[in-house]
Amino acid sequence: MQLTEGLEYRDGRLLFEEAALEDAADKFGTPLYLYSPELMLERYARLKADFRKLNALLCYAMKANSNLALLKELAWAGAGVEVVSGGELALALKARFKPSKILFSGVGKTRAEMRQALDARIQTFNVESHGEMDALEEEAARMGVKAPVSIRVNPDIDAGTHRNITTGKAENKFGLSIPDALAAYRRAARSWRLEPIGLHAHLGSQILSPEPYRRSAKVLAKMIAELEEDGHLVGQVDIGGGFGVPYGEGERLDTSEVAKAAASLSTPGRRVVVEPGRYLVAEAGILLTRVQYVKRTSDRTFVILDAGMNDLLRPALYGSVHPIVPDRLRPGRPEPLEFVGPICETSDTFGVFECAEPAPGDLFAILMAGAYGYSMSSQYNSRPRPAEALVEEGKLSLARKRETMADLV
Ligand SMILES: Cc1ncc(COP(=O)(O)O)c(C=O)c1O
Repeated sequence: MQLTEGLEYRDGRLLFEEAALEDAADKFGTPLYLYSPELMLERYARLKADFRKLNALLCYAMKANSNLALLKELAWAGAGVEVVSGGELALALKARFKPSKILFSGVGKTRAEMRQALDARIQTFNVESHGEMDALEEEAARMGVKAPVSIRVNPDIDAGTHRNITTGKAENKFGLSIPDALAAYRRAARSWRLEPIGLHAHLGSQILSPEPYRRSAKVLAKMIAELEEDGHLVGQVDIGGGFGVPYGEGERLDTSEVAKAAASLSTPGRRVVVEPGRYLVAEAGILLTRVQYVKRTSDRTFVILDAGMNDLLRPALYGSVHPIVPDRLRPGRPEPLEFVGPICETSDTFGVFECAEPAPGDLFAILMAGAYGYSMSSQYNSRPRPAEALVEEGKLSLARKRETMADLV
């Protein structure tokens, strides 16, 4: 059984950052998201070290996990943040990220969101279409300000990840083709109300090889050379996020190799930006869940949990597999058991794992649930969302209350 950092069995019980999972479940109920800010900050420090020579700005992609307590920790540590909605921008400001370190991406920014971001004086809009640029120019003119823009290029690179989280291929809705992005940059440079500051590319998520980043860096370098030949200044280049983590037993992405790939883009006058989401928080969080029933059929044995796809959507959405481990090691022969949720959907399954048959009430931890867990959760089947808690040196604290029936109406 493979455990992630921060987890260990001691005297037959599973601890996360020195706190017994049973205590967390008793205190806050299940299903429960439990996060370790320290593990997240360790990842942040590791990535910072990898990109140290480039003096890069690390902007946390908040969509991975927007719990305010975690955001505050990252803001305090000096991170920037990448947001994709007015809601995320409001949270970023509440968590006290410096506006000069806030980037705004997304293909469908509304005019109200643009005004909100212009008002907050964020660092950059990652612009993804000509229509968006026109709207931004108009809103900036109305407010009498200049909008800083970075043009998102779609370099048509296959990042070798799941098709649902591939964003840098020509068939994807994100960014502009290379010629279109160059034209957009030149167009922004001619505008009184736009200030082109750089280029941006994000290839997808859960990328496990540095190779796509090398290819993307080459494309970006060529575009920068072309723009600079025309006399434009490209003061920032954002290589996006997407740094993968091994959910199973696979290889880790060597992020120092990604930094090496980006090194060719870095000059004293040009800042490199990275937008890690999953990498910072995936392994810093687990989802605690109790067994409701064990159901044997002629075909298989189901372990029915109190957490379902509304709490953790990734397995149903992408077929992703999160390791599941018991709080207590039970005697008995391990057998293949299918762990499922209570939701009325066949896709509400977490997969088949070898495990001794548990009993109702037993506690399990679904690992690597810190990224795209709570942030993708819903009230589907009219289930209030779970609580979120923090564990710090063995101490547990509530970070967001469990929703109640009142939240359903
Ligand atoms: C523009 C952009 N940047 C960064 C990210 C973060 O990706 P990840 O969590 O895989 O690092 C995303 C994810 O969708 C994104 O769309």
